[in-house]
Amino acid sequence: MERSYEELKRQMEMIDEFIEQAYEGMAIVDADGYITKFNYEKLLGIKEDEVLGKHVTDVLENTRLDVVLKTGKSEIGDIQVIGGKQVIASRIPIERDGKIIGAVGTILFKDLAEVKYMADYIDNMKRQMRDYKQELKRLNQAKYSFDNIITDNSRMLGLIESARKAAETHSTVCISGESGTGKEYFAHSIHKASPRHYGPFVRINCAAIPKDLLESELFGYAPGAFTGASSAGKIGKFELASGGTIFLDEISAMPLEMQSKLLRVLEEREFEKIGSNVKIDVDVRIISATNEDLRMLVSKDKFREDLYYRLEVVGIKIPPLRERKDDIYLLAENFLNSLKASYAEKKQFSKSALNVLISHEWPGNVRELRNVVESSMSMAEGNTIEIADLPEYLRIMAGEDQATSGEATDLITASLEMSFSCDSLNLKHCVESVERQAILEAMRKNKHSKTDAAKMLGIHRTQLYKKMKKLGLEVEEE
Ligand SMILES: Nc1ncnc2c1ncn2[C@@H]1O[C@H](COP(=O)(O)OP(=O)(O)OP(=O)(O)O)[C@@H](O)[C@H]1O
Ligand SMILES: [Mg+2]
Repeated sequence: MERSYEELKRQMEMIDEFIEQAYEGMAIVDADGYITKFNYEKLLGIKEDEVLGKHVTDVLENTRLDVVLKTGKSEIGDIQVIGGKQVIASRIPIERDGKIIGAVGTILFKDLAEVKYMADYIDNMKRQMRDYKQELKRLNQAKYSFDNIITDNSRMLGLIESARKAAETHSTVCISGESGTGKEYFAHSIHKASPRHYGPFVRINCAAIPKDLLESELFGYAPGAFTGASSAGKIGKFELASGGTIFLDEISAMPLEMQSKLLRVLEEREFEKIGSNVKIDVDVRIISATNEDLRMLVSKDKFREDLYYRLEVVGIKIPPLRERKDDIYLLAENFLNSLKASYAEKKQFSKSALNVLISHEWPGNVRELRNVVESSMSMAEGNTIEIADLPEYLRIMAGEDQATSGEATDLITASLEMSFSCDSLNLKHCVESVERQAILEAMRKNKHSKTDAAKMLGIHRTQLYKKMKKLGLEVEEE
């Protein structure tokens, strides 16, 4: 008996404690409306002993517990004014064997203003979350499709065909090719043409992320996984790309340990976040890209052979622009067209300028061509883009300059032959040093006339001003 009593007492105390903590206010009345439990001390300053046994209507203003006893119907979330404050009250009848034996009244918040604040806060959080979700979706979307890949070259058309076929499958694709050949365009296009195009397209540049951070970028981490980790944890790119495609750009830069981890993930098709042992399924198509020869890296033990075979189920090797010179004209035309909007009217390359473009080797490939078209277009004054409008390095390499018919080249050669004081072999410093000497020489030869010197250098006068300013040579308007 004693034990049962002690147990009961303990349980009652627990309930009291619960009531005390869970609600700002709570009252229990019997079937006639007399108070048997009262916990409004915090809110009204009335102690329980003072009111036990009193009728609720005599103690609580605006109470409706007496009404609930009569109707037997709960009233949830009603607004009640107590002590000059609006509070949210709920009243629930207590039934036993179909008879009402009492009622409970509770108050969840002290003040309606507090509830409103909470509701606004939650609304605000929801809005922010919606915005972030949209932004995340926008950022993780493929931007280009096969229609954006301009080419008339049979090898390229064949590659597009293979890429289209691969897009329909789940196969892993590895795109290789020199910088600026359009690897990223292919990756976006494959995702867009795949059945996963509704899903996200998440890009990660393995070369741009410090070695130590790559794992958490790829796989994320659990809250507080390591010192300095965010308490909210982090979602990795693999999880972010779920249902879509992950594009591992510059895969050759991935450190060997990460290669092993990636291989394991690809084989098991599941992974764990850092600091967690919960397995997450990988529902992701993988596209990788590299401008290095992975096979060569494998032979030098810099890239895992087993990973190489896993990634290169479908291999797309984009040829450099110099091996598809037939595309140069088409690409240049297209870039001229797309840039037209910014330069009012469309311009055309002269035949000789076009020849320079065709004979150039394009180490920067299509990206370089696009930049050349853009800069020549802005330089050309008339409707025709001449050799003189091409960037300096192309004119020099072409070995001709229409304004000076070879004089500029002689000048550069002379400057190169001069012993220049370059502290290091840093290419930028060396080029600047040669440029400085060529400019000074041209100024000297032309009796300090900038117009004539610019002509001799084969550049526009404004360009000469800019260069002189950059090189710290004295600039005076003529
Ligand atoms: N076939 C193409 N048609 C139209 N534009 C192209 C084509 N190929 C490349 N480009 C242009 O060249 C730029 C570079 O392409 P992309 O970013 O796909 O190259 P990449 O191979 O990924 O280079 P990197 O190795 O330097 O990252 C693009 O922004 C685009 O303007
Ligand atoms: Mg790229």
